[in-house]
Amino acid sequence: MAIEKKLFGIMPSGEEVYLYTLKNSNGMKTEICTYGGTIVSSMVPDKNGEFHDVVLGYADFEGYLKGDKYFGSLIGRFGNRIQYGKFILNDKEYVLAQNNGENHLHGGLKGFDKVVWDAMIIEDEPNTLELSYLSKDGEEGYPGNLAVKVKYVLTEDNALEIIYMATTDKDTIINLTNHAYFNLSGHSSGDVLDHKLMINADKFTVNDKFSIPTGEIKDVADTPMDFRTLTPIGKNIESDYDQIVFGNGYDHNWVLNTNCSDTLKAAQAIAENTGIVMDVYTTTPGVQFYSANFLDGLDVGKDKAIYKMRNGFCLETQYFPNK
Ligand code: GLA
Repeated sequence: MAIEKKLFGIMPSGEEVYLYTLKNSNGMKTEICTYGGTIVSSMVPDKNGEFHDVVLGYADFEGYLKGDKYFGSLIGRFGNRIQYGKFILNDKEYVLAQNNGENHLHGGLKGFDKVVWDAMIIEDEPNTLELSYLSKDGEEGYPGNLAVKVKYVLTEDNALEIIYMATTDKDTIINLTNHAYFNLSGHSSGDVLDHKLMINADKFTVNDKFSIPTGEIKDVADTPMDFRTLTPIGKNIESDYDQIVFGNGYDHNWVLNTNCSDTLKAAQAIAENTGIVMDVYTTTPGVQFYSANFLDGLDVGKDKAIYKMRNGFCLETQYFPNK
């Protein structure tokens, strides 16, 4: 089906931002905007055939311009945290913004979530939108010109595929992901504590109290981090387990049971009231499960929704943070 394009807003610089709508023949519809390469909405059918928007987001472009929660955004150059905003590569130290306490988060002050991507509809591939962005050598402190392409594909079996590609002219580091917050009961339906979640991981990376992985990798067995079988998100979220206390909920990287070459079913989430099921497939070694602990009720979203703590969840497929 044809992808539709319309003007979404104008950047303070005068640059135009577009909204693209991908639809399949089952009626599933996903909107992507070129600011941040953001998933603005995704309408999916429930068990009775009624459609729900399962992605949290703002009603208009201005919301995205002001927002700081990464709703639906592409994340780069490096997803999640780098301790003290510093890394050493080929014996040289690179200094990045400290935009999360003393640490670096999600690419810095102006990460890939805050830039305008070029978009191209790929005519000979069904329902495919290709976004591209050239991040210049030194941008946000990272070395190398980095040419990034992200393809969004809406398939006939109701999957949204996100395919990341990048090339560079210098050694550099990269960790691309998408930060969509999902609520499979509908984006404005309150908390996700009764959603059931499975994460295909026997281990997770242990965090310090600033959510920086310490390097320790621990078994999930006998801890609140055990999602090897479908478990309600809320079951242990108030536990006094130190990892949960540090994150004020879940905000950790799980070590997927993967060989990284075959696509793995990394996670499954289910909302029983709608019957909507989301399966997450990836080739990355990790996934950050974040239970929206920093949503504070200050973001007014689509349909005037007020998003509070735990009103969504993120499953950010990724390389391990702080490496
Ligand atoms: C990630 C981080 C969280 C938080 C959110 C954005 O998931 O791990 O700690 O920063 O992004 O609010």
